[in-house]
Amino acid sequence: MAAADRIESLIARMTIDEKVGQLGVFADMVRPFAPDVNPEANVHNAGEVLQQVREGRVGSLFNGVGAELGRKIQKVAIEESRLGIPVILAADVIHGMRTVFPIPLGEAASFEPALAERTARATAIEATAAGLHWTYAPAVDIARDQRWGRGAEGAGEDVVLGAAFAAARVRGFQGEDPTAHDSLVATPKHFAAYGAVAAGMEYSSVDIAPQTLRDVHLPPFKAAFDAGALSVMSSFNDINGVPASANHELLTGILRGEWKFAGPVVSDYTADMELIAHGYAADERDATKKAFLAGLDLSMQSGFYAAHLPSLVESGEVPMEWLDQSVRRMLELKQRIGLFDDPYRSLDPAREADATHIPAHDMLSREAARRSVVLLKNHGGVLPLKTSEQKIALIGPFVQDRENIEGCWTLFGDKARYVTLESGVRAAIGDPGALAVVAGCGLEEALEGGIDAAVAAAQAADVVVLALGEPQRFSGEAQSRTEITLPPAQQALAEAVAATGKPMVVLLRNGRALALSGAVRDAAAIVVTWYLGTQTGHGVADVLFGHYNPSGRLPISFPQVSGQQPYFYNHLRTGRPELPSMTEYKARWRELPNEPLYPFGHGLSYTTFEYGAPQLSSAALGWDDTLTITTHITNTGGVAGEEVVQLYLHDRVASRVRPVRELKGFRKILLAPGESAEVVFTLDRRVLAFTNPNGEFAAEPGLFDLWVCASAKSGEPVQFELRGE
Ligand code: NOJ
Repeated sequence: MAAADRIESLIARMTIDEKVGQLGVFADMVRPFAPDVNPEANVHNAGEVLQQVREGRVGSLFNGVGAELGRKIQKVAIEESRLGIPVILAADVIHGMRTVFPIPLGEAASFEPALAERTARATAIEATAAGLHWTYAPAVDIARDQRWGRGAEGAGEDVVLGAAFAAARVRGFQGEDPTAHDSLVATPKHFAAYGAVAAGMEYSSVDIAPQTLRDVHLPPFKAAFDAGALSVMSSFNDINGVPASANHELLTGILRGEWKFAGPVVSDYTADMELIAHGYAADERDATKKAFLAGLDLSMQSGFYAAHLPSLVESGEVPMEWLDQSVRRMLELKQRIGLFDDPYRSLDPAREADATHIPAHDMLSREAARRSVVLLKNHGGVLPLKTSEQKIALIGPFVQDRENIEGCWTLFGDKARYVTLESGVRAAIGDPGALAVVAGCGLEEALEGGIDAAVAAAQAADVVVLALGEPQRFSGEAQSRTEITLPPAQQALAEAVAATGKPMVVLLRNGRALALSGAVRDAAAIVVTWYLGTQTGHGVADVLFGHYNPSGRLPISFPQVSGQQPYFYNHLRTGRPELPSMTEYKARWRELPNEPLYPFGHGLSYTTFEYGAPQLSSAALGWDDTLTITTHITNTGGVAGEEVVQLYLHDRVASRVRPVRELKGFRKILLAPGESAEVVFTLDRRVLAFTNPNGEFAAEPGLFDLWVCASAKSGEPVQFELRGE
């Protein structure tokens, strides 16, 4: 039977309970469940879940793993339920399964979407081997406020970078053939504007101009759909007072009407239930009706759809055709990934056994780790370190730690394989006697005698490597902070060690931008290492000792102090900009200049690069033409290195105030010492378009500034004109 006929014939035969069964997603209590994420809601026991599968009341289950048990559930669905509709098995597999890759924010620092595609592919291979079909990833939220903890899951503050990584991750998870046994359905989330919560406070309100919503927060979703994403997850927040999970304009107007997206929308966890707490729905029935009619196809975990959709359909408040349409979307998803033809796809215990440890994924984890590291500062060339003839004091609470390696939202990582910083450094140096290791303090607390031991080790060493940062539970879901600083116990350790006067390299472990101060800010070298995953120790050591020349760039601005938040480089122009010569009555804080400590796009290498002036193919871009920008880049240092060449634009006069600069393109190039390359960008007017006050997406003729440079704060602009039609 043709696919569409099969689905229609099923819908025609389904009872209303079977239909709503397809529209609920429940945490899987049959298989090992990860209890440390998500609050408990309507918990079901194993027997109950299987019985419901038997009765055709369960369309999908999430956050359990294991091919054997998945098979068992599928067998019940196929052989014992009336219509034999297969279940789809989901989980939050965000940045690795058994092998853990850098947190997505860290990986974005590579400025290599192709790398993210590879790590997502490896993740899909391991996740599908463990009996999964569907991941709730990638998170594609743009995070402009570093107090918000979930920036760690996305690609940072920039829309072009965010869209590129969103698309790459979708391609990686799903692969080329969605029916392949190693294809994992992607779910871009959280739709939408979740990263714009007021004051960076998790689950808070989003009050946002429609233009900002469209120009900043929606493009990564569109890019994910254009890359083929088969489902999407709605967000918890409201947008201008209407919760996203019951937002008709968003879930139906934009998603279906404008973008023609055909896959199912799943609620973020109990977002339908939360309409009551929002004060947007009076009770369960009202919440169900509002969410469903707005366009939310699937209800996760609350059980509201199963409980209330039948009576809403009976009363005519929810048309049966609408119910059928959502069921159709879910069945089509199952069809698209081949579950009707091969219900046991991805449920093969033999493949699972073979995939528990794939050595090539360790190599990829190491590569991704070192490519994600950002060298912020390297005063006096203190880095790279020597592997011999140098006594190193490796100090800090992260040195031997194994609990803060994987980063947030890692449910299934193989902890036994995690490489600590100490192991990585030990493996890199020749003489074990050249390394002294001291914790110095705990993550948040002083250790008795800790500082004394650290100071003694520093005094006996030629160089100090101090590993500091946020405990990993400081970022991720529900982890907003008011002060994005290091814990005081760690700061005290840094001050004491710095007082020895020994050259100090600070390694930061972080899930957001940090406001660095005192001895940490003033260290000779500062290296951002995020949470790098399984191969953390080796990845960091590769950079420390120069076996890999760092090439990461910041995907978020590092402010000077927490109070600058929200701080993002591409803010709109003010009528009273801060000027070096005049500071009164200007857009500025009393205490310090507006500049960040380290801007978006910044990152050093062990070599240096020189940029020629960008050459434009023409001083004017015709309305239907393209403009080519060619820039000569030279490696002027002594070692091979990769540079991330960045293209920024600024629209001088427009019908809506425009950002001071916006990233429009980037290229990562590898140059041998002395080598030069021409880096070419091409523009047409679509790249210059924005959403105007009337809501139209269009470019406006006039003058533009353009930079080809190494960060959002560097380079000299050149001008060009966009001519009208
Ligand atoms: C809540 C989180 O916001 C979301 O990202 C996740 O996918 C769901 N819980 C399911 O675990």
